[in-house]
Amino acid sequence: MDLTGKLALVTGGARGIGQAIGEELARLGAQVLLGDVNQAGAEETAGKIRESGGQARGIALNVTDAAQLQGVFDSILKEYKPLDILVNNAGITRDGLLMRMKEPDWDLVLEVNLKGGFLCSQQAVKQMFKQRFGVIVNIASIVGVMGNAGQANYSASKAGLIGLTKTLAREVASRNIRVNAIAPGFIDTEMTRQLDEKVREKLVEQIPLASLGQPQDIADCVAFLVSDRARYITGQVLHVNGGMLM
Ligand code: NAI
Repeated sequence: MDLTGKLALVTGGARGIGQAIGEELARLGAQVLLGDVNQAGAEETAGKIRESGGQARGIALNVTDAAQLQGVFDSILKEYKPLDILVNNAGITRDGLLMRMKEPDWDLVLEVNLKGGFLCSQQAVKQMFKQRFGVIVNIASIVGVMGNAGQANYSASKAGLIGLTKTLAREVASRNIRVNAIAPGFIDTEMTRQLDEKVREKLVEQIPLASLGQPQDIADCVAFLVSDRARYITGQVLHVNGGMLM
């Protein structure tokens, strides 16, 4: 898989899964932009990629801010070229049982995880349309398919992202733009480190491959989906969960 000459934007690229995706795409030769609300983190990660010989830059980007996104995408076009690869990875949780869930927690999670994917895809597709090439990967979740007590907002946002993936894939296929989703199971990052140890142990018991996944497991699948090896794959959800959901 060779991504030389390709320009990629990874949202939420400062840490965790987004960081691993950025590192992997750079290793394969892509020029990588890491967009994150945590600009310092994104810049630090980009610096590490450059130290190991890749091309990367961290940029301030909030996936919920349409006006800021417009400016960021315009400057990408001006300074580089049309975007070839977009990975909608930025995501948050605000867990709680539905009966007690606060409306702002519902709204914020939907705003970041789902509307963020919509806004970034809309900007990216504009650039991809003109060059008649592009690949989008949306990072959904196992929870968007099977549900999870305590995550009504999160699972709804991820199920929505899967719907968005399929519809956009149909809308842009004729322009040689592919859109797929990855549904990770439970991956060892800051997000899951917030879970209590007992909950993590219970989770592992439900995973046939008997461990949480690593960010690299997701990065490898993104690399495949954005490469020409996946040229005939669009509108799909790739499940990467150690067998937790079959
Ligand atoms: P993380 O919390 O370690 O990293 C998320 C990154 O997104 C952070 O750098 C954060 O600053 C950034 N971010 C948050 N809000 C943003 C916004 N509005 N605009 C731009 N950037 C923003 O999370 P992790 O675990 O790396 O997750 C990455 C993605 O994978 C998320 O979409 C998450 O829902 C999804 N996922 C994670 C799983 C896990 O077990 N860790 C499982 C399934 C899906």
